[in-house]
Amino acid sequence: MCGITGFTGMHPAAPVLLNGLSRLEYRGYDSAGIAVLNGNAIHIEKVSGRIAKLYEKTEGGKTVPGTIGIGHTRWATHGAPTDFNAHPHLSNDGRFAVVHNGIIENYLALREELIAEDYIFHSETDTEVIVHLLEKYYTGDIKAAVMKTASRLEGSYALGILCTDAPDTLFAVREASPLILGIGVGEQYFSSDVTALISLTKNVIYLEDGEIACLTPDHVTVYDCTGKEITKPISRVTWNVEAAEKGGYEHFMLKEIMEQPAAVKAALTSRIQGEKIRLDDFELPAEILRSFHKIIITACGSAYYAGCSGRYAIEKLCHLPVEVELASELRYADPLVDTHTLVLVISQSGETADSIAALKECRARGATIIGIVNVVGSTIANLADYTLYTRAGPEIAVATTKGFTTQLAVLYLIALSFAEKLRSISPEVYSSLLWELKQVPKYIQQSIDMNYQLPTLSRRYSSRSLFFIGRNTDYAVALEGALKMKEISYLHAESYAAGELKHGTIALIENGQPVIAVCCNEALADKTLSNVVEVKARGAKVLALAFHGNSRIISQADDVIFIPRISTIFSPILAVVPLQLLAYYAAKAHNCDIDKPKNLAKSVTVE
Ligand code: F6R
Repeated sequence: MCGITGFTGMHPAAPVLLNGLSRLEYRGYDSAGIAVLNGNAIHIEKVSGRIAKLYEKTEGGKTVPGTIGIGHTRWATHGAPTDFNAHPHLSNDGRFAVVHNGIIENYLALREELIAEDYIFHSETDTEVIVHLLEKYYTGDIKAAVMKTASRLEGSYALGILCTDAPDTLFAVREASPLILGIGVGEQYFSSDVTALISLTKNVIYLEDGEIACLTPDHVTVYDCTGKEITKPISRVTWNVEAAEKGGYEHFMLKEIMEQPAAVKAALTSRIQGEKIRLDDFELPAEILRSFHKIIITACGSAYYAGCSGRYAIEKLCHLPVEVELASELRYADPLVDTHTLVLVISQSGETADSIAALKECRARGATIIGIVNVVGSTIANLADYTLYTRAGPEIAVATTKGFTTQLAVLYLIALSFAEKLRSISPEVYSSLLWELKQVPKYIQQSIDMNYQLPTLSRRYSSRSLFFIGRNTDYAVALEGALKMKEISYLHAESYAAGELKHGTIALIENGQPVIAVCCNEALADKTLSNVVEVKARGAKVLALAFHGNSRIISQADDVIFIPRISTIFSPILAVVPLQLLAYYAAKAHNCDIDKPKNLAKSVTVE
């Protein structure tokens, strides 16, 4: 989704802005632009398409002189991805330029009002109303005009504002869209994302809703929504620059797949102390856990599929009913949630609009909320009663991999720690599962190492639409495997609960149909194996995924991928890894833009 960046300092702004925009690329965009203030004129350059075009057009920023500016990557919502609709937008009097991430819900009414007052619009965007409102309300006090403008806006916005009357001051405003200030020496920055700041500074301020910041090269001042100056803590980012770079890999996705042993270890290690699990800053005592009648897990996309896997672990170990709900459905479902409901909201970015809305809906009904989030200081992390960070480090590829497996790791920790407190499993079972959980990083590495034949297999199994089948925990893995395949290789891939095939979809099986059968749930592997036999009898070619040593599968499937043996509840965290690689190599064989698949955005900040 859109990303914004800003710079004020003593040296040319445009190269810094272009570099910042490149680091925001992964969020997804279809046009980009920068505005730089030079003397008393704002120079704007924008292009539809890739940032490389903007580099070329501005000769790496050389043709846009000036030491203060703002930049934007746009993911089209209101109006096509054209040069006209690209940000920044300029006021009619040329005094203000604005970049915006979010959606202005009342823009049509504002647009009509402004047109009636003779403001001329040059784009179809919702954003353009903002720059005209700034012009309308400006009477010599920029901060007052910004506050008055913000008070007229409904929806979500992170704004970066330039004004010719403040030649070294940037203005930034946040309401329900991420915005982070970077604190430098003799220069200051803002961005939608920490990854665009870490090569510049590790000292950041997370703005909160309603806050306004004024940045000059030497100083940052933050005001609350009433205009009162407030003191904000400066946080230190622990990620290093290398974490947000490819480090020799051809794609971020491959790098992030390979980082999974380390990322999962980071999610687990400090929370396991000897024989005890310590969930960071919060411990819910047994009496409180007993007061919950059910758990709802809510999320979108892959995070939802992580929830589907986590549900089996929590139900099995804690004997508590767990519902897994798509956040986009839950928010409008008038859900049966009360003070006896514990809600787990899972989100890599912490900024997914539907997940935030579902969280607020459940909160309003009295639920206790735990956020399982990767991005520190993100909206979901701030809104939740308790937050468990997944500690995956920056995830740049649009398709999540380490984000997903670290979410699973945290869900397993929750399941085990709650089960221990509720005494729903014996101390022996607890110890043995905890021991296994500690082995997961090593086993993930083995799942990668064992499957060197995946590039070849991916060519054999990605020639047409694919079926992914499995039961129970394996079905949850099949769902994620199919999503990975379709989003990066653009092949049609569907997942089915294996037992459902006979109820309709087996009609689609014909000669040569690729079927990926996940058979890691030992109690149900034989059942899935019968489904394998059924689809093979109708001409399908089957690639099975099973525990190492499962010889029965070899005789039935055409090809087999193995993973190390582990307790069924933990099997998804290993089984998904070869499926990520299968999708990666299929996308590579089809020459797809793996890190930035078409039409997708990393952070889905609009509904
Ligand atoms: C798929 C993928 C998406 C995200 C979904 C939720 O690979 O990345 O399906 O899982 O958009 O995003 P977060 O986790 O940021 O809430």
